[in-house]
Amino acid sequence: MATTVTVTGAAGQIGYALLFRIASGQMLGPDEKIHLRLLEIPDAVKAAEGTALELQDCAFPLLASTEIFDDAGPAFDAVDVALLVGARPRTKGMERADLLEANGAIFTQQGEALNKGASSDVRILVVGNPANTNCLIAMNNAPDIPSERFTAMTRLDENRAVAQLADKLEVGVEDVQDLVVWGNHSPTMFPDLFHANVKGERAVDKVEMDWYENEFIPRVGKRGAEVLEARGASSAASAANAAIDHVRDWVLGADGLRSMAVHSIGAYGVDEGLVSSFPVRVSGGSYEVVEDLEIEDFARSRINNTVNELREERDAVKELQLI
Ligand code: NAD
Ligand code: LMR
Repeated sequence: MATTVTVTGAAGQIGYALLFRIASGQMLGPDEKIHLRLLEIPDAVKAAEGTALELQDCAFPLLASTEIFDDAGPAFDAVDVALLVGARPRTKGMERADLLEANGAIFTQQGEALNKGASSDVRILVVGNPANTNCLIAMNNAPDIPSERFTAMTRLDENRAVAQLADKLEVGVEDVQDLVVWGNHSPTMFPDLFHANVKGERAVDKVEMDWYENEFIPRVGKRGAEVLEARGASSAASAANAAIDHVRDWVLGADGLRSMAVHSIGAYGVDEGLVSSFPVRVSGGSYEVVEDLEIEDFARSRINNTVNELREERDAVKELQLI
């Protein structure tokens, strides 16, 4: 068996940190051969060719082929896993919302191309920002693909939250379980300590509410900006790592709760059709939103806030006629 994986923005920063890990088997497991496709804009094809040379030089046993495209049509033909990374990243001083117009058009075109050619069980992960709403755009431009096949990445937020909490409590990251992030991949996101566990105890009971509210939530929400400020470029290796985690868990399964931004069917008062991060369980190659968690008032107001932002983004892309 072999899986066809297309990575857009393959010559970008995240692409460079991602492709080698996919080709080495870290995303789909040690037994799955991979046909890798790199999609770029024409100006960046030469750089993608350079990356393809390096992929060859790694002599990865699982890498069955590498092809480069500057046209979404053939790049997505019969694709099994599509990683939509290619988009402009924000630069210092920009908020993610500023990227809506700049990047939205990319996702109408790629949604249409996926709709025409993708394999019937395609899995799509949108990483390019604003990820939730780009995913919404692609999904709405691909009416023949079941909506549950479209996902956007909030796993980086989950991983950041786990690392920050473990650091605070002086435990290993493996001691933190079920820490889910709700809503938008933006500073409004809500990292949920009410359902998270640390060594079997509720995480929220192990921290002070003041730290949770005034340090932890803003730190996790603004971590992208912190990295951007320090590196002078937006996070790349950690984003690639989260994309690997997201797809690996979706395909191969995992224990406990995970965060994935997926189309809402109305659970927890999130408008149907919005792409919002929810607690999911992953097994047997699919995910399921966990619908019966009790939501306390503190969490409810934060979930409402981040979902409101998603509504505003949806309305803005409607106005731009992208959906
Ligand atoms: P980058 O500028 O280094 O690379 C982006 C690449 O996309 C470029 O090579 C560019 O040529 C390519 N590209 C642009 N339009 C394209 C198109 N239509 N088709 C194919 N390729 C196209 O940026 P990066 O650092 O790799 O970041 C990529 C995106 O990921 C940005 O939008 C960034 O904000 C986002 N991001 C998301 C998360 C997340 O957690 N969801 C985390 C980090 C970064
Ligand atoms: C991140 O969270 O690091 C990315 O979304 C990049 C950014 O612009 O913050």
